[in-house]
Formats: sequence, C-alpha cells, structure tokens
Amino acid sequence: MIQFCETTKKFMLSNATISYIIGVDAQGVLTHEYFGKAIRSVSKLGAMPEMTRNWEVQPIGDLDNLRNYSLGTVNQEFPTFGSGDFRQSALKVRFGHGGVNCDLRYDSYEILSEKHQLTTLPCAHAEEMGETLMIKLVDEVEQLEVKLYYSIYGEQPIISRSVEVVNASSQAIEIQKCLSASLDFTHGTFDFIHLNGAWGRERHIIRETIKPGAKRLASNRGITSHNQAAFIALLERDTNEFSGHVYGMQLMYSGNHVEIVEQDHYRNIRAQIGIGDDHFNWVLQPGECFEAPEAILTFSEHGLNGMSQNFHRFIENNVIPPQFNQALRPILVNNWEGTYFDFNEAKIIEMMDTACELGVDLFVLDDGWFGKRNSDNVSLGDWTVNREKLPNGLEKIAKHAEANGLMFGIWIEPEMVSIDSDLYRKHPDWVLNGYQKPLSPSRNQHILDFSRPEVVDYVFNLLKGSFANITLSYIKWDMNRNLSQVYSHYLLAGQQGEVPHRYVLGMYELAQRIRNEWPHLLIEGCSGGGGRFDLGVLSYAPQIWASDNTDAVERIKIQYGTSIIAPPSTMGAHVSAVPNHQTNRVTTLAHRANVAYGGLLGYELDITQLTDDEKACMKQQIAFYRKYQSVLQFGTFYRLLSPFDDDNEAAWMSINDDQSVAIVSYFVNQVEVSFPLRKLYPVGLLPEKLYKIESTDGKQQFEAYGDELMAIGFYVFPQLESDYSSRVYVIEMIEA
Ligand code: DGJ
Repeated sequence: MIQFCETTKKFMLSNATISYIIGVDAQGVLTHEYFGKAIRSVSKLGAMPEMTRNWEVQPIGDLDNLRNYSLGTVNQEFPTFGSGDFRQSALKVRFGHGGVNCDLRYDSYEILSEKHQLTTLPCAHAEEMGETLMIKLVDEVEQLEVKLYYSIYGEQPIISRSVEVVNASSQAIEIQKCLSASLDFTHGTFDFIHLNGAWGRERHIIRETIKPGAKRLASNRGITSHNQAAFIALLERDTNEFSGHVYGMQLMYSGNHVEIVEQDHYRNIRAQIGIGDDHFNWVLQPGECFEAPEAILTFSEHGLNGMSQNFHRFIENNVIPPQFNQALRPILVNNWEGTYFDFNEAKIIEMMDTACELGVDLFVLDDGWFGKRNSDNVSLGDWTVNREKLPNGLEKIAKHAEANGLMFGIWIEPEMVSIDSDLYRKHPDWVLNGYQKPLSPSRNQHILDFSRPEVVDYVFNLLKGSFANITLSYIKWDMNRNLSQVYSHYLLAGQQGEVPHRYVLGMYELAQRIRNEWPHLLIEGCSGGGGRFDLGVLSYAPQIWASDNTDAVERIKIQYGTSIIAPPSTMGAHVSAVPNHQTNRVTTLAHRANVAYGGLLGYELDITQLTDDEKACMKQQIAFYRKYQSVLQFGTFYRLLSPFDDDNEAAWMSINDDQSVAIVSYFVNQVEVSFPLRKLYPVGLLPEKLYKIESTDGKQQFEAYGDELMAIGFYVFPQLESDYSSRVYVIEMIEA
C-alpha cells in the first residue's frame, strides 16, 4: 500500500479507494502532491512549476538556483513558522537561543508493515491491514527532528497522520504550536463545513465559502467543547450529500483544538487541524520527544454522506475498543430526568422493576448516589456510596438488577471536585486554579489537576474500591465544566503552558486504567451532554451521550449534525418526559422514540409514573428497536433531507449490509395548510429486488422494486397531520 519511487522522489500511499502522494523536491522540502480518488501510479505530474513571485522570499540553501523558488508558494506537508512561508504554519518552535526560524528538510523514511502506535495518546488500531510511512525531517542547524507518520488501512479511504518532534540539541526548546495535519490545495473553489453549537445545541452544520484570509475555529475550553467539534471538511462548491469531492479531517483528541482554513493570495488553500495553540507551550528537554494527536483524514467523491460513512466505518472498526465492534448496544433506562437527585433505594428498585417489565437491557443510576450528593453543590470527589439514600449500598441495587436480568450501570464524574467534599478538604492543592486568585466555579464545581499522576491514581483506586463488590456493566463518565483557571501547583512556572495537554493525558490515563481493570465495561462518554464528543473519547468509550437536550425536535438537528462525524452506534438518544425539561415542548411518545431510533435508544424519565397505555407503547417501541437494532446501530447511515436546509423537515435512513432491510425516518416540525407533497428517495437498495414498504404507524404499505423506489421515490401520504410528527418506514426485501 506504500511505495517510494526513487526517480520521482515521491511517496504514494494507495489502496483501492484513495491515494495520497508526497514529494521531496530539489530543496529537500516535503511537498503535498495529491490526496483523493485512487490512482495507479505516480509520475512527475503534480510537481508545482517553479516561478518567480515578487515579494516572496527564498529559503536558505543554494541561492543561485533559488530565484524561482519560495516556500510561500509550495504545497507542503508540514509547513513551519519562520521558514519564509507566511501562511499558517503547522509547527512553531522557540529554540534555546530564543529564535523561531525553523527550516525542516527531508532526511529519511521508513515503511512499517503495521499501524504506528502512539505512546502517550489514544490512536486508531488496525488488527490487520495497517501500514505506515514514517518520514523524518530535520533542521540541521537547530538539531530538531520531526517524524511524520502516515498510516493506511486496508481498502478503507482513510489516512491517519501523527507527528513526533524530537529535540536532538543540547538545549531545551519550547514547542509553541504543533498541529497534526496540514493539507494544501492548489487554487480550488471550495466550501468548508464545520460543526458549531452550544450546550444543548451541539454540532449544528455550518457551511461557508472559503474566502481570502485565514478562518480559525477552535476550542480553548480545555475540552473538545459543545461549541466546536474537532472536525473540518473541505468540499467542492457543487457538493451535496450524495455527490461531489469532500476532504474531511477529525482529530483524535479531547482537549483544546484548532481547525484553520486559509486561502492565500494565489488562491491556494491550506486546511489544518491539531492541538489548540492559544494555551500551549511545551518544553522539550534535550533528547525528549513530543507526540501530537492523530488526525484522521478521509476523501470521498460521494458527497457528505460518503465522507460520513467513511468516518462511521472507521470509528466502528478502528477507533472504538475492538471488543465493542458490532456489539449491539443495550437499550437502557436512566433515572436522571426521572428523579434528578431525589431518589432512594425503594425508588430505584421500583424503577428497575418497571424497566424489567418494559424489557430493556440496562439500568443506569445517574448522579446523586455518592457522598452527600443531594444537589450539585457537593461531594464530587467522594466516590463512596450515600448510605442515607442507599442504606444497603450499591450491592443491594446491583444485585436486584442482576437477579431480574438487568445489567447495572452507574454515573461518575471523576475529573471533578466540590469545595464541599472530603477530597477538597484534604487536598486543596489538587485543584486546577488561578494561582493565588480565588477559584472560579462553574456548576459549583472545580477541576482536579489530572496533570498530577497521584490524583489520577487516587481517583482510580477510589472508584475501584467503590465498585469492588458489584457487577458493573456500564459507566457514564461525565464532565461538567470547562477549564478556565489552568494553573497547576504540580508543575514549574515554565511548564504552565503544558497543563491543558497534560490534563488530557491524565484523563486518558484514567480511561486506560479503567479499560484495563474492566475490559468489558461499556463506557458512555458525556460532558454535560455532548461537550466532549470526539475520537479520543470514542477510543475508550464506544458511545457518548449526544446532548443534554432530550427534546425530540431539537434532537433532530443535533443527531443529524453529529452523524457528520460519528455513526448512530455512538450516539446516546433517550426518550424523556413531556413537557420536555429543556424546552417545555410537548411531543408524542411516538415522535420521541422515532427520533431516538436514530441513535442508541434509552428512556430517561420516571418510568414508575407511566400509564398502562404508555407502557404498552414503550414495549412496542422496544420490541421494534430490538428487531431492527443491528440495522439501526450498524447499518449504513444516509442523511436524506437536511433540517439545516429546511427548518421544517428532515429525513435519514439506515440500511443493512446485504441491502435487504432499511429503516427510513421522516420528521416534520409544523404541518402546513395546502401542504406541499413530499417524496422520499431511499438509497442503497438493490435495483432488481422487490421490497415491501410499511410505515410503523400503519398509514402506508406497498411494494416496489429497488430501482423504482430509488429513482421515482414514494410519497409521504397521507401527510403528517400534526406538528412535531414523524413517520418511520421499514423497507424489507421480499425475495432474496
Ligand atoms: C450532565 C449529564 O449530561 C446529564 O445527563 C446528567 O448525567 C447530569 N450531568 C448529572 O449531573
């Protein structure tokens, strides 16, 4: 899959779906030649013509031959600050002498017959069919070595990139910026999309035209954030969900991140992704190595759906822990919106009994089970059971679940501490703070200094002790504030710029220890809903609570946007009570479930208060979801109608691998008088096969061939008759 051509001095990573070509030019600069649809071989085509450009500068080297050459005009793989390329750089280093001019040239390469493993950070895994190209660049004067790793995975249209910076000099240096991927394009007419939002409104799709100048998207919140996903995609202007060239990048990282899109004065485009550099200064002592997170790149000529499907498959096969690949996720009941902090043993047991009656797989005890936790003011950090609420400990309820055939799961927020906690009273210096300034709270809580190994150790041991006597199948790992004051008493003054990244490393360390201790534990990531929905979390936790907003109407956009970067099998989606607790909106139970089928179905309300009719309806929903669980969770997912194009409608579908079963879901916000007719066009069916189409509300039933369904489409008729309604269609092949 990886070749180097001595004559053309080009590296080619290629499989049946994509090719990525890197060149070494006459100056030893590593050039970006191509990323896109697979090609068979590589010639000199693609090398940039040399030409004089006024006001560009020549790099150091053989000056007589360099009048026509400047780094500012070359498509590069890893541009550095202070090299004469005035565009956005991927690497900025302040050397021991204080200077910042960095000039990297090609040194050597290695082709490894396996996927490169990062040592300090999570990374994609490839059980088989992974190969890696390592290219070493050096700045000889500064004795700086940079290793660029590019991995390719069987026939998947994915390239992952990562970077190591090694200080081979005898003086300490400071890395001020080290991005994971930089992609240059010559004069393209691109749009770009990104996922932007807020708490309860995560990952809305924003599409913009690339204009001259640099646009910078970022999270400086210490976590991925509700506000900006660690993702960016460039798309040719006429690209839509089904056609057009798309280049997508995601970062496997859960802290500060940055995505930059720049169009320069020659209309060339540079797109970058990496660790956020606003609060990042990493001191590298002689001989030390810094590792940047892995970036996952994909190309699709089949529009945004194609890009998302590439990411989806890769996440399932190569990102989440392998033991969860294709493992059906449990249908759950969570008590949070049902009880908040107000519960006791009898209430939980009653909820468990109802959960059993409904036929779910897992009961999750959310916040409030520990310390003196009757509100969000107290006890974070004191991870021992609250005996007032649960006098017989976790053992009693966990055993009750087990005895009734339910799995048991529990909520934790291990990175946090309350001022009113035994932990804070004992270790006030374990909190990240503003040096001598008073602490600045958020949700009355503070952040433990996870850059400090003893803190991670302490939390792990405490959790291990608390869960020692129960059978735990699942944890919901929450994280409910941003990092604002980021001073660590553990690190030296000169290292304070390392704290945000060291914090993330500490969080990953805890996640890895939990994974090692309980390999089969299903972890659901959470950060006030979807504040940390990223590939870093997914590499430990195969699913993530997509949003604290459980309103079905708002959820359509959140789940639709999230599907840009992650599959339904990663998205927690619950049916909650009405009026909805976030929006006060009233929607039908059917509508709430129809939306939740687009992710991992759960129920989050006081199920002990359900009427018999509601119970009967939920039982049906659970039976339906269970019947089609594998297609809903692991089928190929297509976005059909965007709620971001037309605020009133949306549709999506999933289809199984043998194209025999598909579920199409259609949603409407407001019905209209003199309504426009709506046709749906399912995709991915086998043209010559006959299918039966049935809506779950019993309103539509017919038969048609795959080609007709895809080309002619079918009407949603009779039309939906009330606001906030939906229709789910099951499409099943009649003849095999
Ligand atoms: C925020 C989460 O997103 C909610 O689901 C819930 O677990 C609360 N935290 C508990 O404090």
